[in-house]
Amino acid sequence: MKPLRIALTKGRLEKDTVALFETIGFDCEAVKNKGRKLILPVGEHLEVVLAKAADVITYVEHGVCDLGVVGKDTIMEYGTSFYEVLDLGFGRCRFALAAPKGSDFFSGYASKTIATKYPNVARNYFESKAMDIRFIKIEGSVELAPLLGLSDAIVDIVETGSTLRENGLEVVETVCDISARLIVNTASLKLRKAEIEELVAQMEQATQEK
Ligand code: PRP
Repeated sequence: MKPLRIALTKGRLEKDTVALFETIGFDCEAVKNKGRKLILPVGEHLEVVLAKAADVITYVEHGVCDLGVVGKDTIMEYGTSFYEVLDLGFGRCRFALAAPKGSDFFSGYASKTIATKYPNVARNYFESKAMDIRFIKIEGSVELAPLLGLSDAIVDIVETGSTLRENGLEVVETVCDISARLIVNTASLKLRKAEIEELVAQMEQATQEK
């Protein structure tokens, strides 16, 4: 039978997932010596696809990959039509609202501007707050926006907090916690139920052992 195909988010989540596969006992040599190759075997029953986070969701939603490993941040921004089956426990960080130190973001009635790489997450977060907010999409180094006077605050990922600290910003509120998740295509879960359930169980156990 053809191997199950799993899309991994390139970079840190990829490395953490490979470490998890090694805990299970899968042969990961091909991925570890991958060069520029993007599709690689892991053991005999699994094929790894290396992709950018949002593309992991696209490949799983379209069913060209059976499973995927992606951050909860990307899931919240881009995706819903798949099963999220496991919190892998790594890639931990949080979404936060952050503003220049001492700026008192919630004071006053004037409309506020938020810069973010995650407009859907930011919009959902502010929906319940009954505030007049304008959102501006930024592609990276979002912390620049309030420093340059483009926005009053940002909604962004905070891991260690160093980027905020070193740029004179501070967390106003945590929006939610983030970690890596295992996702499964809905049709694959029906068609290859036994294989997928076995892999999920192995990954779950390895997650607990780590
Ligand atoms: C992320 C995030 C913050 C930073 C947070 O950016 O957007 O800028 O990491 O990490 P810290 O709290 O440990 O400082 P990333 O490095 O992924 O690049 P980007 O800004 O280009 O998106």
